[in-house]
Amino acid sequence: MKKTIIVTGGAGFIGANFVLEWLKLGLGTVVNLDKLTYAGNLENLVSVRHNPQHIFVHGDIGDQALLTSLLQEHQPTAIVNFAAESHVDRSIHGPEDFIQTNVVGTFHLLEAVRAYWADLIEEDRQDFRFLHVSTDEVYGSLAKDDPAFTETHSYAPNSPYSASKAASDHLVRAYHHTYGLPTLTTNCSNNYGPHHFPEKLIPLVIHNALAGKDLPIYGTGQQIRDWLYVTDHCAAIRRVLEAGQIGEVYNVGGWNEMPNIEVVKTLCKMLDVKKPRADGKSYADQIAFVEDRLGHDQRYAIDASKIAKQLGWKPKETFESGIEKTVNWYLENQDWVSNVTSGEYRHWVQKQYAERGEELA
Ligand code: NAD
Ligand code: TYD
Repeated sequence: MKKTIIVTGGAGFIGANFVLEWLKLGLGTVVNLDKLTYAGNLENLVSVRHNPQHIFVHGDIGDQALLTSLLQEHQPTAIVNFAAESHVDRSIHGPEDFIQTNVVGTFHLLEAVRAYWADLIEEDRQDFRFLHVSTDEVYGSLAKDDPAFTETHSYAPNSPYSASKAASDHLVRAYHHTYGLPTLTTNCSNNYGPHHFPEKLIPLVIHNALAGKDLPIYGTGQQIRDWLYVTDHCAAIRRVLEAGQIGEVYNVGGWNEMPNIEVVKTLCKMLDVKKPRADGKSYADQIAFVEDRLGHDQRYAIDASKIAKQLGWKPKETFESGIEKTVNWYLENQDWVSNVTSGEYRHWVQKQYAERGEELA
């Protein structure tokens, strides 16, 4: 019999990609619990709206009563927790939602799951998994020549976002250590790909380029991130669910470190070919250096050898192949972009970039 899982945050960027692939692969029923914040879009799930194996529930991971009833009703064999406030810049403007969802919400989710798991019959208790999706940002910032983050790197989160994710990771760890809850944690680098909300660097740059707006680079643009194509991340999560050691942490990365300015220039070059500007100039002319992010982490880099050695996972996409797929998706899905960049999005862009001296809205 196919299994049922509960995915939280499955209307967001990575969660939606994960849900779509899970259903496409025929892996079973997905109960998708999402609060539908500004970042959650049912637009991401239109292709599965009539699929009986997708059950969407509008709700909050902090609502323990709702979770308890969902767990009783659907008897899942696993929970995959994507739900979070995820944008560093927003956490700088207003950290409270990050504490509520990422810390308090994860706590309530863990409490509901612990009670459900404790009542399962022994065989089902053995099979059950709670997979927590986290970030490389919990490890803090690296200097240029430091070795990449391994799973034993000490935690040193620098933004309200990463601090709240670090707190949630610690709670998950404690629920395994104290109560024996069969947890798994993945710490991943920067994802990119289809359905990425255009407040993050890559989709924002594609969106602004096509709209003839400035392409804002914080500070010098020399900060380095490791980029992972989103479906590679989803495959890693499926692999960890399937074969990960209970209580373990797995770092997931793309082996693609790049300074932000290089990412933006690559996007401009690609767009110059695929969708040339009417005036024949390069999109690179739209690059604008703006005020830096407060406390901007210099470099993230993931050492993904543990998951490669122990579970045989490696990313399939290179940055070149992944970024091409991403640009193509955005060019082919301009309706999606228009639908998700209305109302609240405009308000955010105005507020966030006006403070940096840019008029991007
Ligand atoms: P996202 O912001 O696109 O989506 C988050 C989703 O969670 C949205 O659908 C939102 O509506 C939902 N949500 C928010 N608060 C909720 C709550 N209280 N209850 C239920 N649902 C709620 O984020 P994403 O980029 O898809 O990231 C997913 C997860 O992966 C997050 O936990 C994030 O920390 C982690 N992560 C992201 C990246 C990245 O590059 N995007 C990298 C590493 C880890
Ligand atoms: P972002 O996509 O917000 O992801 P994160 O902060 O989680 O790494 O940003 C990626 C990098 O790009 C980060 O160093 C900040 C930078 N950045 C810009 O230079 N300009 C922008 O407009 C945005 C949104 C980000």
